[in-house]
Amino acid sequence: MSGHIVFAACLLPVVLSAAPINVHVSWNGRDDAASTMVIAWQTLNNTTSKVEYGLSTNDSDTVTAAPSYSTPCQRYNHAVKLTNLTANTQYHYRCGNETDGWSAASTFTTGLPIGSTDDILFVAAGDTRIDTPKIGRVTNVKNRIAARNPRLLFFSGDIPREGGYQSADDYADSNWDMWFEAYSNFVDHIPFFSSTGNHDLYGGTSMFTDQFHWPTNAQGNDRWYSVNFGNAHFIALEITGSTSDAPVGSDQYNWLQTDLAQASSDTNILWIFVSFHAPPYCASYHSRNVNVLSSICPLFDQYGVDLVFNGHNHIYERTKKMRNRVSQDEIMEAGPSYNSSVEGVVYIVTGRAGANSHSTNPSAWTAFTDNPLHYLVLDIDNTTGVLYGRAYDIDDTLFDTFTITKNDGPDVFPPRAPVGIRILPGP
Ligand SMILES: [Fe+2]
Repeated sequence: MSGHIVFAACLLPVVLSAAPINVHVSWNGRDDAASTMVIAWQTLNNTTSKVEYGLSTNDSDTVTAAPSYSTPCQRYNHAVKLTNLTANTQYHYRCGNETDGWSAASTFTTGLPIGSTDDILFVAAGDTRIDTPKIGRVTNVKNRIAARNPRLLFFSGDIPREGGYQSADDYADSNWDMWFEAYSNFVDHIPFFSSTGNHDLYGGTSMFTDQFHWPTNAQGNDRWYSVNFGNAHFIALEITGSTSDAPVGSDQYNWLQTDLAQASSDTNILWIFVSFHAPPYCASYHSRNVNVLSSICPLFDQYGVDLVFNGHNHIYERTKKMRNRVSQDEIMEAGPSYNSSVEGVVYIVTGRAGANSHSTNPSAWTAFTDNPLHYLVLDIDNTTGVLYGRAYDIDDTLFDTFTITKNDGPDVFPPRAPVGIRILPGP
């Protein structure tokens, strides 16, 4: 009988063309990571979206939905949201349907409830910038990340080198499908979230955002969004280049201020992490972004953001704790041991999960910098209130460590006084 199935499949490749590709999991709500999961995939043809899932492969529920057509991707996007799930629990699933084929059997694990004080381990990385020559090392870095078994991957953009192409049919040397192929056995079970990089926008905003399914903001899109996981709050922004900004009063600024005010006043939230692509503290191949020093950076100080992750420059750079609420570029703590009661933010460029290296350029704000292929593990011990940051190269050699300790000191500070804007030139 199985011989007949193989034979039929060989004769009918059009049937296989509707099989799921680019399967991945994420959350598309700010507050429902513990009880939901979005299973997303693409097909070439219009076909039913169906997910079979359960606590075991023999215990299966089914959710069926309709796909939506993405004009920029020229694909049917399928996103099925599973609800009423049990927190912090592994489920088995597959997606597709009987007619067109199923994805490989996989699993996912729901998030911690908001306010949980269980420990959290996640990975920050950026700039895979995948193209044909980089497939091997992008895959190798991904394999090292996967070996850490993070609860989620928090990415700082520049996913493919050429974000304007979906498939090899469009451009064989770099495309979105190439990245999904390299990451397919990771993002099928570990939630992936990214801020927007300049290369991601080569096909326009909708081509980037149509690839993924993240929370919708007040403007009705997922170009900037936030997710709660346990007692941690994750914010992704769209600051893509050295002159980009979210000026005071802009939609993104207003959304960010509201989001940070809510998260910082929520007693269930202890840790706040932000990701955006173009760094205010790193001058390498790309100049530092000084525009954000007087727009969103003071908000980070005011509302007690713990870490900001950036990319764009293909290096690793951890700063001293920097404050911009009172005046710009104030050094508050040298590190590598930071205390959250000291105002300011540690900025980390983690921008080489596959991309070619850029040169390092230590500056007054720099605590540590190097440029290997790498990823950054953030390991939160909520019993002691200590976050351990550990940066590893592709051989899993530890090359930077730091800590952030929470104590009873203040973590929220007054808004910035209305002093005149003072922009320091980049070096
Ligand atoms: Fe970039």
